[in-house]
Amino acid sequence: TAKLNTVAKAAGKKYLGSATDNPELTDTAYVAILSDNTMFGQITPGNSMKWDATEPSQGTFTFSGGDTIANLAKQNGQLLRGHNCVWYNQLPSWVTSGNFNASQLSAIVSNHCGTLVGHYKGQVYSWDVINEPFNDDGTWRTDVFYNTLGTSYVSIALQAARAADPAAKLYINDYNLESSSAKATAMVNLVKSLQASGVPIDGVGIQGHLIVGEVPSTFQSTLQQFTALGIEVAITELDIRMTLPSTPALLAQQKKDYQSVIGACKAVTGCVGVTVWDYTDKYSWVPSTFSGQGAACPWDANLVRKPAYDGIVAGFTS
Ligand code: G3I
Repeated sequence: TAKLNTVAKAAGKKYLGSATDNPELTDTAYVAILSDNTMFGQITPGNSMKWDATEPSQGTFTFSGGDTIANLAKQNGQLLRGHNCVWYNQLPSWVTSGNFNASQLSAIVSNHCGTLVGHYKGQVYSWDVINEPFNDDGTWRTDVFYNTLGTSYVSIALQAARAADPAAKLYINDYNLESSSAKATAMVNLVKSLQASGVPIDGVGIQGHLIVGEVPSTFQSTLQQFTALGIEVAITELDIRMTLPSTPALLAQQKKDYQSVIGACKAVTGCVGVTVWDYTDKYSWVPSTFSGQGAACPWDANLVRKPAYDGIVAGFTS
């Protein structure tokens, strides 16, 4: 059978990748599949490069978990996606304490992004510098960064990241950007305004946390809206969940859904690659967040390929 990264590259993409996480790396059967670079040409750490993991107290950086994933990618000959520099979630309490004024928080954001990105200089293909800045209605998420710095935190982070690793592609990453929506429009406008003010921005990450039977019909045109701005896009966290239990009919629909998402990326030149948010249901984040839902990944919990696997292959080859 065809391997996923092989067919992705044959279709002109840079990679088909997977998220992973440090606790999973003791599972040797899991690691064997993850480490096959004809299957996965790229990996993303699911948690270990986030702020709570990398700067748990102010000015004290811990890179051990992130380094493990970076070294794995290197050893396997896989691209690495950095995830992430600035996000409202998984922040240590010292950041959210409310103890900092604008000039202090600006220095904190700049130092965090610069140090994190600088530590991995030369090892990362792309960084999610900003993660999930918008609410679904297209308004800004009122997190500690926005509340203290307004929208300027975005350029502070991007500029620090660029200075720290000029070769890394700098992304803003969000969910519910898969169809034309107020949120997608807000993202288009943000990219335009960054470009107009000379702030570095190379890509938009479309997370792709989707539901079986509900892949938006405007997926491809939405990707094109972003690439028309002269930036690249990537599908960064693809999974397609269902209400459990999974049935043959749901798995067949899921196969079609994976095929349409991959087909949309294939059809858009500036869509550089697709990352699944872990390749197996064994380690998916879905069941713990959406009660009664799951089976979102292309391999089942026993590391057996599902019909979705063939959907990915078909998306790249047909
Ligand atoms: O590290 C603690 C551990 O010390 C503690 O004992 C344990 C008990 O609950 O929790 C551990 O933290 C968990 C963490 O993952 C690390 O395993 C958190 O509870 C858990 O909520 C957290 O979930 C992660 C989630 O982001 C948090 O928002 C998922 O693994 C991760 O896959 C998920 O990834 C996000 C992307 O970063 C952004 N886009 C959405 C995506 C899915 O939510």
